[in-house]
Amino acid sequence: MKTLLLLNGPNLNLLGTREPGVYGAATLADVEARFQEDAKRLGFQAECFQSNHEGALIDKIHEAGRRRAAGEVGGVVFNPGAFTHTSVALFDAIKGVGDLPVIEVHISNVHTREAFRHHSYISPAAAGIVVGFGVDGYRLAVEGLARKLSGPA
Ligand code: DQA
Repeated sequence: MKTLLLLNGPNLNLLGTREPGVYGAATLADVEARFQEDAKRLGFQAECFQSNHEGALIDKIHEAGRRRAAGEVGGVVFNPGAFTHTSVALFDAIKGVGDLPVIEVHISNVHTREAFRHHSYISPAAAGIVVGFGVDGYRLAVEGLARKLSGPA
């Protein structure tokens, strides 16, 4: 059984108390528990990781790329948080590992928010993007990833 990874970037450890009007009441633990359930329902194992550090996220993507090449990992659901708008290094990491399907998720609709949130360095490297559905976006993303992994519709 292949593994799907859920990666969350900076400040997403504060979900539940961080700007609840924007990000909702669910905690990161709630999001990770739902991801585990959704992955299992879709026939995958799940692993979850959150970091406030860009390098730690880059290391996880490199590891995911190696595990994908070894047939252990299917792909990644990734909310890069504010690194979305700043990180050439995360873009390079995803491109650099080669064949790693990454679904980019944003809880909020970044396009209705400040102009600095409108550009994503991650999107050109992503296999799909889910924006603005609240924490339900993680479920939509894992379902989309599972579909992509099962081949063309
Ligand atoms: C976010 C949107 C980003 O602009 C922000 O910096 C976050 C969360 C979202 O999920 O809506 O930390 O990625």
